[in-house]
Amino acid sequence: MLRVCSLKEVPEDGMIRVDLKGKELLVARVRERVYVSDVWCTHEEGDLSLGLLEGDIVKCPLHGARFRLADGSVVEGPEGESPEAIPRLKTYKVQVQEGEIYIEEP
Ligand code: FES
Repeated sequence: MLRVCSLKEVPEDGMIRVDLKGKELLVARVRERVYVSDVWCTHEEGDLSLGLLEGDIVKCPLHGARFRLADGSVVEGPEGESPEAIPRLKTYKVQVQEGEIYIEEP
């Protein structure tokens, strides 16, 4: 398991970007749940941590693609295109232990 950050670093109903060795991650807290995914949009690498969090859906700041953080599925493609227009977002299995957030690698 790989430590990502402390739970208290992530605002409730908010998200942060965490840069680890060779991995840039998006960490989001939605009520009691914690989600970790790649931070880069699968369209043209918009930084999703600068986008909008709407429940468990993140909206890319560049062209508005939307991803479900629970499984990385595409809810809406860029500029309102169909979800099939872009690949899904990579998500990670998360464990929270004693206030620390871990992911299962890779
Ligand atoms: S880079 Fe994210 S929608 Fe284009």
